[in-house]
Amino acid sequence: MANPFYLQEIPVDALFCNRIEELKELQSYAEARANVVIFSPRRYGKTSLVKRIQKNLSQKGAVTIFADFFGVASVDDVAARLAKAVFAVTHKNAPLWKKALRAIKSFRPVLKPEIDGTFTLSVEPSSIGTTGVNLLDETMGSLGEFIGSNRNLLVHIALDEFQEIVVLKEALKIEAVMRTNIQQHRASYFFIGSRRRVLLGIFNEQQRPFFQSAVNYPLKSLPADELEKFIIEQFRSGKIKCSPETARRLASVVKYHPYYSQKLGFFVFEIGGRVTEDSIDRALGKLLLSEKAVFEATTQGLTSQQRLLLHAIAMEPAKKILASSYIRKHGIGSIGGIQHALRLLEELDLVEKDGQTGCWNLVDPLFAVWLRSQTEEKII
Ligand SMILES: Nc1ncnc2c1ncn2[C@@H]1O[C@H](COP(=O)(O)OP(=O)(O)O)[C@@H](O)[C@H]1O
Ligand SMILES: [Mg+2]
Repeated sequence: MANPFYLQEIPVDALFCNRIEELKELQSYAEARANVVIFSPRRYGKTSLVKRIQKNLSQKGAVTIFADFFGVASVDDVAARLAKAVFAVTHKNAPLWKKALRAIKSFRPVLKPEIDGTFTLSVEPSSIGTTGVNLLDETMGSLGEFIGSNRNLLVHIALDEFQEIVVLKEALKIEAVMRTNIQQHRASYFFIGSRRRVLLGIFNEQQRPFFQSAVNYPLKSLPADELEKFIIEQFRSGKIKCSPETARRLASVVKYHPYYSQKLGFFVFEIGGRVTEDSIDRALGKLLLSEKAVFEATTQGLTSQQRLLLHAIAMEPAKKILASSYIRKHGIGSIGGIQHALRLLEELDLVEKDGQTGCWNLVDPLFAVWLRSQTEEKII
């Protein structure tokens, strides 16, 4: 029996837990040609949700463009990714493809046949000499022309991990050029991102070009009862019995996290047999092991002070991190140093202050479990 849970990216037609309200709301924003900022911690399902929305929209005749800015290296790269996204979505539709070729003058598509009969698509800059912010301006202008050439169609553009543009040295100029162009486009843009502080800074700081130009849309974690039902249903489709109590346990171990519950379910299914507390515990061990490399890489990228602070918060989430008793107990250094480290950890979306309890906590519940396991050894 094939495993009904997904270790890799969930296909757009696979069973999806809940998000019915979000799908409806976001789809109507798109249809109203509104611009929306969608934010949440990593792996809450933003990308999968937007892909589903785009699938629905394109079934209704819209042109849906999806560009991912993750790891973007330069302004030219931003421009190239935008151009590529337009070619990628139009290449199967001759009239649209023609319009895209006519409108996008800054890049030309390169289609390379593969042995298996498929094609890979890349782009090459076509105009000689235009680079940097000018190239981006030209490409955004071309995109505007493409949108204008589809007057009767809805054009929806999703820019995933949009906050990544901020790491580029021309960030403010990029923001200005994009904003000026987008303002003239009769389309709906979704700006999606996980590093909430950085992303929201772009839209909510008064002196920035994108200030208040989009609807803020936080994507919450999944409701406990919906996730529980989803887990039971997934196991049932794989011919395995899972009681409501065990489903709840599975979901709560990973704090109802959309991705980790999917992945934990995957490992429990692999272990086989009925779902029990024991199989969940064993699967959790496998899950931690599979995430170890990511957690190690994340901690390695931090300074020792940031690492100490992260560790302290994982061990003991607290309201008053700057209290002398907390500082002494965890040996986390000077107040100035802690404040600085805290700001950076927040910017990286590693820690957050809970709006309700006022407690500082790790954003990623499994990362907290892993950090704690580094100091606590199980005594058998
Ligand atoms: N509503 C959901 N139902 C089922 N699985 C989900 C859901 N949301 C997220 N997931 C799981 O989490 C994974 C990561 O989601 P993704 O959309 O990449 O998150 P993000 O873009 O927020 O980082 C998906 O591939 C899927 O396995
Ligand atoms: Mg994503």
